[in-house]
Amino acid sequence: MSASTDSTWFTTDRLGMFIHWGLYALPARHEWVKNRERLTDDQYQVYFDHFDPDRYDPAEWARTAKAAGMRYVVLTTKHHDGFCLWDSALTDYKVTKTPHGRDLIGPFVDACRAEGLKVGFYYSLIDWHHPAFPVDGTHPRRDDAAYIEAAADRDIRDYQEYLHGQVRELLTTYGTIDYLFFDFSYAGRDEWWGGKGPDDWDSHRLLALVRELQPGILVNDRTGIPGDFITPEQYQPSGPMTDGGRPVLWEACQTLNGSWGYDRDNLDHKSAELLVRMLVDGVSKDGNLLLNVGPTGRGDIDPHATAVLADLGRWMDLHERSVRGCGPAEWTAPPDCRYTQRGDRLYLHLFAWPLRHIHLPGLAGRVRYAQLLNDASEIVRVQVDPDLPAQNTRMGGQAPGTLTLQLPVQRPDTPVPVIELFLAPRSDRALGA
Ligand code: GLC
Repeated sequence: MSASTDSTWFTTDRLGMFIHWGLYALPARHEWVKNRERLTDDQYQVYFDHFDPDRYDPAEWARTAKAAGMRYVVLTTKHHDGFCLWDSALTDYKVTKTPHGRDLIGPFVDACRAEGLKVGFYYSLIDWHHPAFPVDGTHPRRDDAAYIEAAADRDIRDYQEYLHGQVRELLTTYGTIDYLFFDFSYAGRDEWWGGKGPDDWDSHRLLALVRELQPGILVNDRTGIPGDFITPEQYQPSGPMTDGGRPVLWEACQTLNGSWGYDRDNLDHKSAELLVRMLVDGVSKDGNLLLNVGPTGRGDIDPHATAVLADLGRWMDLHERSVRGCGPAEWTAPPDCRYTQRGDRLYLHLFAWPLRHIHLPGLAGRVRYAQLLNDASEIVRVQVDPDLPAQNTRMGGQAPGTLTLQLPVQRPDTPVPVIELFLAPRSDRALGA
């Protein structure tokens, strides 16, 4: 991280929106369609020729993000197919040459700013369209011997120049950019021959350029050299993430249905409850969630995504303070629960609703007051004598120092109920003291 980089907004906000949008919204069967179906440039051209998102309304996207509780938005300026959503001077493979004919990035940046959201760009290091990008195992033409032969003299340095030039454009045209997600390095990975990494992108020089142009920006780690944060993809880490034993900033990027681009027939939708759990799980491990939507070829966020984001937003509206600015707690949460903490507030997130009682080891004498966060209704403690065993109608057998709370039988009607615990300084008289 450069000396001037302030990551406070990132660890405070905790939740952002990822937007994967480009030509692949038209085939509507995954953003890797050109790779998966081994499409030639000519075959893929039909999407370029028909790209005309007449309903593109970035103000609506920004409002949707904000209402879902998201505080930053990251848009694909170019994905692996090489198509540019801005009027790059370095290529004709860009939105201004499609029927739409207008820059998409400027209005997006303005819309985010108008809603007070931080602005992020995704930029693909991989480029399946650029004539100087050496063919490798990710390339749509990876099995075409004649194509590979014809491409044999491609020089990655020519592509580097293009890549660095485009990053310069993106970071000088649209004012302050808060966040940059490069995607991705795969040198030495088994699944693809000819993998590329930091030497191919000239990552040290690339990052220096980024820092020079946008000194306050946060950059991810996918150039293959360390950035400001790391990016677990489609999985939840099992604890706070570290690098060489030191804690690092991290952000899980997650899809709504397993695909990043609009994928019409994919019904593998995650529920609002699962999404809230993923968010909370991340914050309890000191991480962020970047949750993806893949707008349609007309520019709309599809109805499934809209509905689940609205549910997420309803949860955030009532429970925001259990994630925003929060991080891990010093106690280990009981089974099926996650703790988050901010100062003297400890938040107990219940992934499963227990019968009547929940036991919190180590918290006896540490809690001044407890309430359900959704309606500020008091949660009372019950006394459990640690010296007595449990028998017929009497609880027992809890470790000394355990605080026991009595819950209502009815679970609050919200994806993940939260109990807010007001912590007392050690000397205070408190619940369970
Ligand atoms: C991957 C995929 C990609 C997606 C990205 C998001 O690396 O190649 O399609 O954009 O992850 O993290």
